[in-house]
Amino acid sequence: MGSQDGLAHISMAYIDPGDIALVPDPGYPIYSASILLAGGELYPMPLLASNRFLPDLAAIPPEIAQRAKMMTINYPNNPVAASADEGFFTEVVEFAKKYDILICHDIAYSELAYDGFKPTSFMQIPGAKEVGIEFYSLSKTYNMAGCRLASP
Ligand SMILES: Cc1ncc(COP(=O)(O)O)c(C=O)c1O
Repeated sequence: MGSQDGLAHISMAYIDPGDIALVPDPGYPIYSASILLAGGELYPMPLLASNRFLPDLAAIPPEIAQRAKMMTINYPNNPVAASADEGFFTEVVEFAKKYDILICHDIAYSELAYDGFKPTSFMQIPGAKEVGIEFYSLSKTYNMAGCRLASP
């Protein structure tokens, strides 16, 4: 129910047994659980203060990136509350194109920003629509937990 349903089922649709998925660590639990349920393997991407709580894409070994089919990212982030800028998302688009990886961006907290700050959508980035999907939630912005929306 809600965006969690989509985040779970994208793995069922896209991951085959033995495929690698790159997931943020720490991260909202469904990212990892859905990969394991689909028979995939996890490669955790640490979110460290020293890298502004962004995954260090250069630290991912090329042999892992070549086997990876999917990467999940989430900004504004739960649980570390960091945001990502256009520069990071641009790197993600380049990485996805280089290694042919599907990017799943969870933007559940896009409206919970203050003092005029506007979180960046992955979809703003040139090329992002060719490599990615963005998941939005009605439960944070509108207190409508469990509601679903789809368009043809
Ligand atoms: C980061 C993140 N993504 C997704 C969800 C799921 O939201 P929904 O209620 O739309 O399933 C949550 C809910 O807590 C969340 O924290």
